Amino acid sequence: MEQRYSRESKCYKTARVFPPDVNNHNTLFGGKLMAYIDDIASIAATKHCRRSVVTASTDSVDFLHPIRPSDSVCLESFVTWTGRTSVEVFVKVIKEDLLSGDRKIAATSFLTFVALDENKKPVPVPKVVPETEEELKLFETAPHRAEMRKIRRDESKKFAGFLTVKHPWD
Ligand SMILES: CC(C)(COP(=O)(O)OP(=O)(O)OC[C@H]1O[C@@H](n2cnc3c(N)ncnc32)[C@H](O)[C@@H]1OP(=O)(O)O)[C@@H](O)C(=O)NCCC(=O)NCCS
Repeated sequence: MEQRYSRESKCYKTARVFPPDVNNHNTLFGGKLMAYIDDIASIAATKHCRRSVVTASTDSVDFLHPIRPSDSVCLESFVTWTGRTSVEVFVKVIKEDLLSGDRKIAATSFLTFVALDENKKPVPVPKVVPETEEELKLFETAPHRAEMRKIRRDESKKFAGFLTVKHPWD
């Protein structure tokens, strides 16, 4: 079975915080950060699979510190774990005060992508091999997250069965 190192999928992106990107608190708009996260995570997943991938889920985005216009926002993503046809990607968001150099973890997120074949059907992915302490820790803790995801997915499907798709005005 083909395998790739976590480092082979690593991606980095650094951006400034411009006026159109902020909310009414003058901090980076959460939706903007989530778009950055999905974007960089999909690149890491594609680099690992060398296939077309689709986002199956985003576990959560934990916003730990606000990101201000005086900060840069730096994202790092890489594949942490693989199932049969899915990969888990971790995204670490670091904010850096550009004048003081102070750096903090501003947010973290785990996303799952599924590799698709030419007919848009899930297809097996290469295994991932962690090397660094951080990669190993994320790899070892992944089966628990995958289990939680499966429970949540089953619950979401059940819940969707109760919901209506009627127009609100009917
Ligand atoms: C994701 C998707 C391809 C899965 O297809 P499916 O027919 O349900 O496939 P399966 O049940 O065989 O699951 C395939 C893999 O996806 C994983 N998976 C499916 N839904 C998942 C979810 N919500 N969260 C995490 N993993 C999920 C399964 O665990 C399985 O992984 P494995 O092969 O590593 O064990 C399909 O649900 C889909 O196309 N969803 C819409 C995706 C999309 O439009 N994304 C963009 C959002 S804007």
